[in-house]
Amino acid sequence: MNSDHTIKSIQDLFKEELKAVFPQREIESVTYILLEHLLNYSKIEIHLNKNEKIEQNILDEICKALGALKKSVPIQYVIGETEFYDLTFKVNEHTLIPRQETEELVHAIINENRIISPKILDIGTGSGCIPIVLAHNITGANISSVDVSEGAIATAKANAQLNQVKVDFYHRDFLKWEEFSWDKDFDIIVSNPPYVKESEKELMADNVLSYEPHTALFVDDNDPLIFYRRIAEFAKNHLKKGGKLYFEINEALGQEMIELQESLGFSSVRLMKDLNGRDRMTSAEL
Ligand SMILES: C[S@@+](CC[C@H](N)C(=O)[O-])C[C@H]1O[C@@H](n2cnc3c(N)ncnc32)[C@H](O)[C@@H]1O
Repeated sequence: MNSDHTIKSIQDLFKEELKAVFPQREIESVTYILLEHLLNYSKIEIHLNKNEKIEQNILDEICKALGALKKSVPIQYVIGETEFYDLTFKVNEHTLIPRQETEELVHAIINENRIISPKILDIGTGSGCIPIVLAHNITGANISSVDVSEGAIATAKANAQLNQVKVDFYHRDFLKWEEFSWDKDFDIIVSNPPYVKESEKELMADNVLSYEPHTALFVDDNDPLIFYRRIAEFAKNHLKKGGKLYFEINEALGQEMIELQESLGFSSVRLMKDLNGRDRMTSAEL
């Protein structure tokens, strides 16, 4: 990349180079995210300074990022971070990129529970987005979170530090929860576990399939509710009376999720819709 590039010429270059990979609007958005990150500018500052020449070391970074974007690497992995519920999270090959429906789940938990200093367990930490946002927004909360991936736990610990909250993270295979000792008085248990059936792989976008960790996403077609069943069984014995269980779910499995939780003795089992009107969350009470 020659050293005469300005913000405007980079925007034009990206439009041309990425037109086979993304739709036009996405190219614009991805280019803004990258430039905001590398130049430490807001969108409006990018706009106001579009004739500014870009320094060589930044151009080298832009060149590397362009190569990755051409291979459909998600922009969040290219810059190594993303925004979730107004906080910044590091993301990498060990963590799922947090999704908007998960923000909605966290929002429901924050708004529906006014308990003083609740004790909360999150299962399937990933980037740590759920426990960290809860810790940031619920005063005095005592929060633990577990994940089978050591890489996810390390990233989540770094994110808790970045956002200056305390969460206790544990490396655990939750499908073997009987092998570990747990507190028995949680007020809230929450999970966004793996829930995409292996057979749904072919319907998924290449950039999800190629770059997001498969342990975070997929479950065996023969038992797609395995995590929900194991977590609900655990919650029956580890929630306080009146405690709440929250799940993010596969929109195709809403009815099964209600039946599963009612059959285990939970009450007030509720399906919740996301902003697009799809059944993407449940809440239940013990
Ligand atoms: C759908 S991701 C959710 C990540 C994060 N909570 C979020 O909402 O972005 C599911 C997480 O469960 C973890 N996981 C998969 N199998 C697990 C197991 N057996 N025990 C504990 N965690 C597991 C994955 O590593 C992944 O981080």
